[in-house]
Amino acid sequence: MKPYLERDIIETPFIAQYPNCKKINSILHKTLMKPDWSLRTKGGANITDFYLHLKRNREVNLIVDWVESLVPIAVANFARNDSGGVYLFNPHKLKVEECWGAVYNKGDAVMPHNHFPYALTFSYYVNTPKGSSPLIVNEKEYEVKPGQVFILSGLWLHGVRSNNCDGRSTLVGNIMYKPHL
Ligand SMILES: [Fe+2]
Repeated sequence: MKPYLERDIIETPFIAQYPNCKKINSILHKTLMKPDWSLRTKGGANITDFYLHLKRNREVNLIVDWVESLVPIAVANFARNDSGGVYLFNPHKLKVEECWGAVYNKGDAVMPHNHFPYALTFSYYVNTPKGSSPLIVNEKEYEVKPGQVFILSGLWLHGVRSNNCDGRSTLVGNIMYKPHL
């Protein structure tokens, strides 16, 4: 007998490319390489505090705005409904609530984790020198390139194995549903 609930959710990230990312990424990379590192993850990667998007940094804000503009498109990868694409929520009310930088040097990694209780999370790749480890989402590996953003469900397990170069840098964020905004 067919199960009542079929596990048909497409568990692949939404991926997009920022156009002409070279200039913005070189500025972002410098910003991320000289922060006051506030945290070191269990796997070793250094991360900034969680509020980079509130610091009036032009390049950070450009990327955050771009990611928010993609979310209404990305929701098709996550939301399931039987009403012909009409969602029972407003996809324009998913907003970036936290944003931080992460830098991986040789040997740094991030253990498998998710971003519960956030609805979505994103990783924007700033600098990915030769030897940069791929992003692993739901056990699938994704090569990462500068200017790429990956938007994932906040519940999906992901991580990064030991990195093989210095200066793999990313801008990361958490996205929350704020229906009363
Ligand atoms: Fe993560």
